[in-house]
Amino acid sequence: MSAKNRVLIAPSILSADFSKLSDEIKSVEAAGADWIHVDVMDGHFVPNLTIGPVVVRWIRKATPMFLDVHLMITDPMTYAPQFAASGADSITFHVEAVDEPRKMIDAIKALGKKVGMSLRPKTPLSAVLPYVPSLDLVLVMTVEPGFGGQKFMVDMLPKVAGLKKAAQEKNPGLKIEVDGGITAETAPLAVREGAGVLVAGNSIFAEADRAAALRKIRSCVDTIG
Ligand code: DX5
Ligand code: ZN
Repeated sequence: MSAKNRVLIAPSILSADFSKLSDEIKSVEAAGADWIHVDVMDGHFVPNLTIGPVVVRWIRKATPMFLDVHLMITDPMTYAPQFAASGADSITFHVEAVDEPRKMIDAIKALGKKVGMSLRPKTPLSAVLPYVPSLDLVLVMTVEPGFGGQKFMVDMLPKVAGLKKAAQEKNPGLKIEVDGGITAETAPLAVREGAGVLVAGNSIFAEADRAAALRKIRSCVDTIG
């Protein structure tokens, strides 16, 4: 696989020890992670609460890595500017959370950030396809959003394949990200269908040796494509 097409690995800090978040982030940075994935939950869009812009601001100071912010919140229009100001590099919102996705895309672009759209497992790919030409990233949920450590849903793989086809036709630079249940066993399934960014929480942060955990996933995908 050429360097251009190298699969990116984005550890999700949801499974990190928040009492020593800076050390946790530095451990995956040293281990060769590409992005840091930040799961923002508001207790409304999903039944869990996590972190807000204040914490993202401190993460920004702790690492130069690309901050991939995944908003699982009902009101991304109100909060996107705060995450942008806090140092997010990309802001991904859920298509189910907004009435006018186009307006949300334009708002994130106007903030000077990469824009991503995500969809829940029950949401059909057709909800996202009209926006493929305008997006930097599509995040396919491969578990029900809300919690780390769940089982990968193989029936989401056709969405990845459908996105790959749409991207080839309309936006070859689109990044296809999968999120939920990614392990050394499931990562190759997603990459084979066209995923280029792998979010991994539990399979990295539950392992004491972060470099070994990253290597294990990478070695299973680097020969694909
Ligand atoms: C779930 C989050 C994921 C989660 C993935 O709602 O969006 O990013 O942290 O965790 P694992 O890799 O443990 O399934
Ligand atoms: Zn996520």
